[in-house]
Parts: sequence; structure tokens; C-alpha cells
Amino acid sequence: GAAVSADISKLEDGQLIRVEWRGRPVWIVKRTEEMLAQLADTENRLRDPGSKEPQQPAYAQNRHRSIKPEIFIAVGICTHLGCSPTYLPSDFAAQVEGIRSGFFCPCHGSRFDMAGRVFQNVPAPTNLMIPPYMFIDDNTVLIG
Ligand code: FES
Repeated sequence: GAAVSADISKLEDGQLIRVEWRGRPVWIVKRTEEMLAQLADTENRLRDPGSKEPQQPAYAQNRHRSIKPEIFIAVGICTHLGCSPTYLPSDFAAQVEGIRSGFFCPCHGSRFDMAGRVFQNVPAPTNLMIPPYMFIDDNTVLIG
């Protein structure tokens, strides 16, 4: 299929960029140390913290759900009915108490942590999808 490459050399801490892959938005986020540390704090409130559901690449079956811990890459489509969740880098606590950063779907209120893992008691049934990708070099990622 049509793979798409993205230059991540200018990505700043906490920044999210979007690329289009097979007509779908793919997010690339450079997570901060704080965002990564927070992934331990969400786990007892998640539906599937270990990403045990099928259709996940092997490299997504860890806490940060990525090849490089700081670079998060996910399909930016809610697993409920397909809206695009909103990235809340610093004001997510209104959605989940005590958690500073995450993704909130405005359609029916699903919430995801900074690894795209779905919180309990929301409509979305599974974590956000992680697409196939690989790093060509330190600054370039190939999605698809
Ligand atoms: Fe996201 Fe329904 S489409 S919560």
C-alpha cells in the first residue's frame, strides 16, 4: 500500500503533527518526559493497559505503545464511531482527574491517555490503532 514518510526533525516537545495515510489522519506526537511518566499513573483506570487486543503491532504491546518511547504514532480516529479526538496536552485533567495530558473525543466523550489507551467507562471499545511504521533514520519515519 501507499506508505507516507514524515520529517520529524522539527517536532518539538509536546507537539502533535498530522499526516494522511490511506485517507486517514495519523498523529505523530513527541511526548515529554512528564507525559511518559504519566503513563504509569493511568493504568488502573484503563480498559486494556497492555494492549492485548488483536490488530496491534508487536511494538505497540508495551506501556508507551511505540518503537521509540518519546515518539507516539497512532491513527487519530476514535475507535467508537470514527470522530477525531482532540489533543489536550496540558488541560486534560478536566476529563480525567489527576492526568494532565490526553485525547478527548468530543462526539461521545471517550478518553485516551498519551499512549492512546482507552479509559474505562467510555463508549470507545479499544485503544487507538497503531499503524505499521518504521524509522528510516533519526529524522524520518515511514508510515504504512
Ligand atoms: Fe468518539 Fe463516539 S466517536 S466517543
